[in-house]
Amino acid sequence: MVKIVFIDKSGSEVTIEAQEGLSIMEIGRSLGIEGACDGSLACSTCHVIVKNKSDYDKLPKATEEEEDMLDLAFGLTPLSRLGCQIIVSKELEGMKFQLPSATRNVLIS
Ligand code: FES
Repeated sequence: MVKIVFIDKSGSEVTIEAQEGLSIMEIGRSLGIEGACDGSLACSTCHVIVKNKSDYDKLPKATEEEEDMLDLAFGLTPLSRLGCQIIVSKELEGMKFQLPSATRNVLIS
């Protein structure tokens, strides 16, 4: 199990023991991450913000498809990612992800 820390909309930190292989979107659903398209890169409702730049740099680079969907995300920041594209592994131990204050629910079909 890998400890992942979420910072919810009220600013509280919530630590989740996550199974490797799941996505940040899947484990964050209980905290309000919507994941409307179930990880098929057709929405931006799984938008999360990596808290630290050094952690952001450890993650595999976003694909062009992810970048395109991120452009539609509400409150985009330089440390924004789509939660469904980040897979939990040991390297993510202790990593912090901030939930954005809102998401834009636009499903592209
Ligand atoms: S869940 Fe839709 S892009 Fe991540």
